[in-house]
Amino acid sequence: MKTTIIGLKNHAAEEVTLSGWLYNSRSSGKLLFLIVRDGTGLCQCVMEKGKVPDELFDEFRHLGQESSISVTGLCREETRSVGGYELAVTDAKVICAATDYPITPKAHGVDFLMKNRHLHLRSQRQWCMGRVRHTVIDAIRRFFNDNDFTLIDTPIFTTIAGEGEQTLFEVDYFDRKLHLTQTGQLYLESAAMSFGKVYCFGPTFRAEKSKTRRHLTEFWMVEPEVAYTDLDGLLQLGENFVSYIVQRVLEDNRPQLETLGADIVALEKIAPPFHRLTYTQAADILTSQKTVEFMAEQLDGFEKRKADIKQRITEIEAEDKKGGLKKWRQEKNAKELIELRSELTDVDVKIENNPKHAKLAADFRWGKDLGGSDETIISLMHDKPVFITHYPKEAKAFYMRADRENDKVVENFDMIAPAGFGEIIGGSMREDDHDRLLAKIHNEGYDPAAYEWYLDLRKYGSVPHGGFGLGVERTVAWITGEKHIRQCIAFPRMMDKVYI
Ligand code: 4AD
Ligand code: MG
Repeated sequence: MKTTIIGLKNHAAEEVTLSGWLYNSRSSGKLLFLIVRDGTGLCQCVMEKGKVPDELFDEFRHLGQESSISVTGLCREETRSVGGYELAVTDAKVICAATDYPITPKAHGVDFLMKNRHLHLRSQRQWCMGRVRHTVIDAIRRFFNDNDFTLIDTPIFTTIAGEGEQTLFEVDYFDRKLHLTQTGQLYLESAAMSFGKVYCFGPTFRAEKSKTRRHLTEFWMVEPEVAYTDLDGLLQLGENFVSYIVQRVLEDNRPQLETLGADIVALEKIAPPFHRLTYTQAADILTSQKTVEFMAEQLDGFEKRKADIKQRITEIEAEDKKGGLKKWRQEKNAKELIELRSELTDVDVKIENNPKHAKLAADFRWGKDLGGSDETIISLMHDKPVFITHYPKEAKAFYMRADRENDKVVENFDMIAPAGFGEIIGGSMREDDHDRLLAKIHNEGYDPAAYEWYLDLRKYGSVPHGGFGLGVERTVAWITGEKHIRQCIAFPRMMDKVYI
């Protein structure tokens, strides 16, 4: 019977056929251990000489990694085996033999892997990442669909800017200049006046000149928008939403989280309420003695980690030099060395940046937007996501609603993920007063004519309303503990690099 690896649990003690690819293999005398992957998991298939024709045994013994194959055998429970089930092979077939697959089990550099992204997607890490991303997206849709939101598909070609004209990608649209969307929000606001609670979900584009681990030029964003809400309502929506996503991933993807080395204990703590700080409180924290001490502790930790890494590298190098190591051991060492050296580079960067970031924090002045390093400091100080609300109006987008009690700030919020992952949500109440909004549009130097339809919403039955945007790749990076968001989308687009 044909089945998949994930379905093996329903076929113990039956003969089944799997169709997949050869992930890895090793032979030990009369036994050949074939690790097969089929898109649903990994399974060890054991071929024994004498139990299959000799030619078949030989063919599989020399078969290259990533050859496509089908394998038939008796399914048995085997707790020590990857996936918990094993196949005792009775028959097998090669569909397409692969030789010299470029991505071998040893470690490779990022550039090499990105140039081979079409193949790299088959690797365990990328597969786990893809499964987590899939769950995150499914949870996003389910959350809004189950909470009476209506999906509205906003356009990709847009006529107006939402998040500043500096990051617009211009498109020649039949001799007219349009832009790739930075946000669906402005369109969504008009839909909220029809449906009440709406969301859009799609790719968004920013010509952002940032080569950081948090920036892509094309990323996926989900944006809810709610009529008749207030800032507090939005914060509650945000914390319930993010907690729901995390819980779903914990339910559906625990093995993948383990493979990726995610901090599962920390994720289990993600439940409402999240921490709440105003921008002014955050600014006070950054310039406080507490932050000075915190940064010194961090530096201390980095120095200790650096010493440990260096010692481990020396040990491995000495072992290699001595020689006589088995092949698997050499490969393991080579892999560990690459990982250690890469971590060493990261730690060196952290050691170099620490004093700069400490100075940036100490010099922080009310009025500036929080920078990536400021967010990192706040986020490292907390075990749950932190909301930072009420930013100075000059630092934020034109559409944000002025706080009627303090005109210097807007009713907005960012949600900062813990453990240094930074902002994953940006949102606000929207300016619902026509004249105030028009003044902001003038202030930005935008052409009011282009915003006429947006201003109309403030003429015909304007209501308090607001929403937010959550970046999918940043959320996946935080949940999985992946440090660079380029690994959280199948084919990343970055400012300086588009590989395939
Ligand atoms: O804070 P942002 O710019 O907010 C908006 O676009 C609002 N119009 C959303 C709304 O209120 N409807 O972006 C929202 C989120 C960020 O918190 C971040 O997670 C993600 O989108 N994001 C990016 N992700 C990857 N690469 C980039 N260059 C990103 N820019 C924003
Ligand atoms: Mg933002």
